[in-house]
Amino acid sequence: MIDLRSDTVTKPTAQMRSAMAEAEVGDDVYGEDPTVNRLQERAAEIFAKEAALFVPTGSMGNQIAVKLHTKPGQEVVIEERGHIFNYEMGAPAAVSGVTVRPVKSGDGSGMLTWDEIASALHIDQPYYSSPTGLICLENTHNFAGGSVMSAEHCAEICENAHKLGLPVHMDGARIFNAAAALNQSVADLTKHCDSVQFCLSKGLGAPAGSMLLGSKDYILESRSWRKRLGGGMRQVGILAAAGLIALEESPKRLHEDHENARKLAEGLANIPGVSIDLEKVATNIVIFDISGT
Ligand SMILES: Cc1ncc(COP(=O)(O)O)c(C=O)c1O
Repeated sequence: MIDLRSDTVTKPTAQMRSAMAEAEVGDDVYGEDPTVNRLQERAAEIFAKEAALFVPTGSMGNQIAVKLHTKPGQEVVIEERGHIFNYEMGAPAAVSGVTVRPVKSGDGSGMLTWDEIASALHIDQPYYSSPTGLICLENTHNFAGGSVMSAEHCAEICENAHKLGLPVHMDGARIFNAAAALNQSVADLTKHCDSVQFCLSKGLGAPAGSMLLGSKDYILESRSWRKRLGGGMRQVGILAAAGLIALEESPKRLHEDHENARKLAEGLANIPGVSIDLEKVATNIVIFDISGT
């Protein structure tokens, strides 16, 4: 039995389990867990960002990002199937007091063009609309079927957003899958983003944990919000030890996941009644319709 419902059902490898058992630990609320500190330094280095913060979940990383980039009453522009909008329990409203402006991606890829984003922005409309405070991107895009956004596409959006003074957050829960599919580095794929969240706990195989990346000041402030939201953990080097292995070792093997996903998709396409768009299978997600069976 191979459970293919989600890349979140992955279990830690034997190497991760022994690293967890032997992990050097300290109180991470005091910033004194050496394994967490090493993980944060390595993540920042790999993404070429100034700093990184270990957070319990991708949702917390995303929502701290929304909180820090926005003011209550503002709007966050995001593709309509985006995780931050649909699957994080209304947290933008509950935690940050912002509304979300969902935008349809014309070609269905989940990757908004700058023109699509621009048409949804509220800039300099002081008496009518809630002003846009943030643009959120997602790479790969989960509910668009694991589609990928190139470094060039992301750079174009960020450059245009920055000209208007708008920050860009990347929900890169599966950014390493995008990097493997495009043969581009995660640093290039997120180079111009003001903040990035990525998950250790999905295709990279760690049992828990995500990272939030950004400037030194931004990450310093994000520590307060992590604590405020109940995400300040103590001897959490036990999890970071698995996270370090996920970060260093797992990206090398993601192409195998992608090859297996394609093989599965091609096999499914041959089953009468199963409907699947093979062109949309770009990474490790295979979405198909069995209503005809
Ligand atoms: C695109 C995307 N972002 C964020 C998350 C949230 O991650 P977590 O489940 O760790 O909160 C997920 C989880 O599936 C996701 O698919």
